[in-house]
Amino acid sequence: MSKTDRTAHARLSRRGFMQASAAVASGSMLAGATPQALADVPAWRQTSDKVIRIGVVGGGFGVTFHWHEHPNCVVEAVSDLIPERCERLQGRYNCDKAYESLEKLILDPAIDAVAVFTEAPNHAKHTIDCMEHGKHVIAAVPACLTLEEAAEIKEVKERTGLKYMMAETSHYRWETITARRLFEDGLFGRLVYCEGEYYHPGIGAADDRLSMRGGERTWRWGYPPMLYPTHSTGFLVGVSRERLVKVSCIGTRKPGDLGFEDNDYDNPFANGMAMFLTDQGHPFRCNVCWDIHGHGERAQWFGTDAALYMDGWGGQPFVLQFPGRSINTMPDYWHMVPEDMRYDTGHGKSHPFLSHEFIMALVEDREPDIDLYESLAMTVPGIVAHASSFKDGEQLDIPSFDIA
Ligand SMILES: NC(=O)c1ccc[n+]([C@@H]2O[C@H](COP(=O)([O-])OP(=O)(O)OC[C@H]3O[C@@H](n4cnc5c(N)ncnc54)[C@H](O)[C@@H]3O)[C@@H](O)[C@H]2O)c1
Repeated sequence: MSKTDRTAHARLSRRGFMQASAAVASGSMLAGATPQALADVPAWRQTSDKVIRIGVVGGGFGVTFHWHEHPNCVVEAVSDLIPERCERLQGRYNCDKAYESLEKLILDPAIDAVAVFTEAPNHAKHTIDCMEHGKHVIAAVPACLTLEEAAEIKEVKERTGLKYMMAETSHYRWETITARRLFEDGLFGRLVYCEGEYYHPGIGAADDRLSMRGGERTWRWGYPPMLYPTHSTGFLVGVSRERLVKVSCIGTRKPGDLGFEDNDYDNPFANGMAMFLTDQGHPFRCNVCWDIHGHGERAQWFGTDAALYMDGWGGQPFVLQFPGRSINTMPDYWHMVPEDMRYDTGHGKSHPFLSHEFIMALVEDREPDIDLYESLAMTVPGIVAHASSFKDGEQLDIPSFDIA
C-alpha cells in the first residue's frame, strides 16, 4: 500500500479507482457517454429544513456567490474594511447586519460559518481566526502561502473538527465536472496525462489596475504566479484525486517591471511552467502565467481510451473524443443546484456549485468535496514549485498534508 493510500484522500481516491475498475469490468454506467448520460445526475431537492447562518467577508470577489438564494442558508452578517464594499455585500445578500471587520464578525454567536474572501496572503490567518472562534470556513484560493501555514491550518482543523472548504472555481467548471464523471466511470481508461493552466496577463505588474488601490500597493503587486496554483492543479487533483509528489518548475522574469523587482514576496517571477509527478506515476504539466499573451483557466485530459479538451480563449472548442467518435456538446448540470441559483456568475458557472456544496456539507454534517486535504493537495505543490524556480527547475519533493 502506498503512503498516500493511508490518507483520507486516498479513501476517496480508491473509491474513484474502484468505481473506475468496476465500471470497466461491467461496462460503462454512462451508457454511450452521450451529453444526456453524462448529465444524468439526480436533480437536487430539499430534504432538510436546517438553516446555516453564514457571515460573508470581502466585498470584491466575495459578492459573486449565492448564499442568500440557497433554501438552507441565511446570510446573517457581512463585513469589509472598506465601507462601500460592505454596502455592496449588504445589497447583494439582502443583509441588514454589517461588521467593520472579520475580527468583529466572528464574535457573533449567531454565525455558524464564514465565507472568507479577503486577500490571498491573509487566508491562513483569517481561516485560523474563524476556526478558533468556532466557525466553519469556506475561503477563497489559495488555502495558504507557506508550508508552515499549511501545517497550522491542518492542526486547527483537526483539533476543532470544524469544516473547511476552498472555493476553487476550476473544480466546478462544467468541463471538470464532466472529467470527474468520466474518470469515476472508467471512461478515460487509464488517465495518463493532464495539462492544466491559468493565464491572467498583467497580474503583479506595477502598471496593472489590480496592483494599486487608493494610492497603495495591493497584495497582487508582484504576486508570485506559483503561489496561485489551484486553478491549474485543481484540474487534476479534483478529478483523479491523485497527489502531486515531485515538481520541477521554470520561472520567467519580466525585466524592468518594478512589480517584480520590489515586492513583499521577494518574487522576481511573472510566469511559472511546472512539470509535476503524481503518486500514481503520472506526469502533469501545469502553468500559471501573468506575462504571456493568453487568458483564462483551461485543461486537457488524456486517457488510454478517451481525451477531453476544454474550450479556451484561443478558440479551442470543447471536444470529448473516443476512438471513432467525438462529442462537441457540453452536458448541462444546472439541475444539481437549487433552482434560484441556476445562473452564471463567472468562472465556468462554478459559483452556484461551490455555494451549494459548502452549505450541503454543513447541512449533512459531512466534509465538503474540496475539504482541507484536497485544498492543501492543490495549494502546497505550487509553494514547492515556486521554490524550484529559484533553483533553475531542480526537481523537489512535495510534502504531504494528508491524514498521517
Ligand atoms: N476564480 C477564483 O477563484 C477567484 C477570482 C477572483 C479572486 N479570487 C480570490 O478571492 C480573494 C478576494 O479577491 P478580490 O479580488 O476581491 O481581492 P480584493 O483585495 O479586491 O478584496 C479583498 C477584500 O477583503 C477585505 N478585507 C481584508 N481583510 C479584512 C478584514 N479583516 N475584515 C473585513 N474585510 C477585510 C478588504 O477590505 C477587501 O475589500 C483573493 O484571495 C483572490 O485570490 C478568486
